[in-house]
Amino acid sequence: MRGRVCKSMNSDVDANAWRNAVSTPVVEVDDLRHRFEDGTVIRTGEIRLEVFPGECVVLIGPNGSGKSTILNHILGLSKPLGGTVRTLGQPSDLLPDDLRAHIAAVVQNPDDQLIGPTVKDDVAFLPVNLGLVRVDVARLVESSLRRFGLWEAGDRVVHALSVGERRRLALAGALVLCDGEAYGPKLVVLDEPFAALDPVGRKTLTDLILEMSARHGTAVILTTHYLQSVPDIADRVYLLGPGGRILKAGPPLEVLPSVPVWGFESASDATWFALRIELAARGADLGSDVDVTRLAAVVEEWLVASGVAPGQRSAESRAGSEMPCPARPGPVTRGLRATRTP
Ligand SMILES: Nc1ncnc2c1ncn2[C@@H]1O[C@H](COP(=O)(O)OP(=O)(O)OP(=O)(O)O)[C@@H](O)[C@H]1O
Ligand SMILES: [Mg+2]
Repeated sequence: MRGRVCKSMNSDVDANAWRNAVSTPVVEVDDLRHRFEDGTVIRTGEIRLEVFPGECVVLIGPNGSGKSTILNHILGLSKPLGGTVRTLGQPSDLLPDDLRAHIAAVVQNPDDQLIGPTVKDDVAFLPVNLGLVRVDVARLVESSLRRFGLWEAGDRVVHALSVGERRRLALAGALVLCDGEAYGPKLVVLDEPFAALDPVGRKTLTDLILEMSARHGTAVILTTHYLQSVPDIADRVYLLGPGGRILKAGPPLEVLPSVPVWGFESASDATWFALRIELAARGADLGSDVDVTRLAAVVEEWLVASGVAPGQRSAESRAGSEMPCPARPGPVTRGLRATRTP
């Protein structure tokens, strides 16, 4: 649970309300079993998945590990063969419409939820159906389209948009009511929301997720293969393995390093690439096969050598280091991977 939610507590009444709120999960998945018609089985197993108010929980795992299947259950789109899935305190497949109205969702393929015909029409669909007056609909549509960088494209037809633009549009439509102080859904469910988004789009979305959870206590569960964004947003990460089994759960910086190949190891990733170029410009060309563990060890050596961090090396050897770039890095310490500040 993020600390800033606690900060809003300024009385015993608030404190009790907060304790009650955090003790009731918005989402609970306990040993979910799902069988597809062709016999494929998804089973989450003994680790229970929970999302509390104000939390952002991220599901990661290889293609086909069952992330979308789990989200579909949370949204009540499937009926479990076994186990328990509860959403907003109710069995998810029996969720009444008045509770459903508190959930905003974006499915993995944005084309499955875009109804158009134009960009503006699409984003207006939800507020119009809620019966909001025209002026409010117009304001919400403009605000959401501006947020996701689509205001200028408002009169374009939906099917003419690029893949990334359609992802932005699906997000703008699902989150159209999330406008400042006015409203925040109790639960946001996003399946691969970062897919095809450019860096500005990813930043917009991460900022909005943090804002919704801080302002409204919105609970967010999302899936992503874009692991670089996970430490920015996640309170807890669930790592799925084959067949849907939850292998590990915990804070991102505990779970991510156990992923066989996680984001920073990708040489094609722009951040990683830029970092290597910057380091090479400073005389530390780490080669093409360096991974995040080795980089952390190198940085640790630099910090120790420059006296910023405590280390094993003696003061004399530190004093002699003009260019503290070791040829062979020492052991890694987890201290470099600072946990998220509350
Ligand atoms: N309609 C279906 N019929 C049979 N099997 C299915 C069906 N839908 C999904 N599956 C299978 O269920 C498993 C889990 O699929 P799911 O879409 O949940 O995976 P995922 O983790 O979301 O993958 P990705 O990272 O590719 O989005 C996969 O093996 C998939 O082939
Ligand atoms: Mg999926």
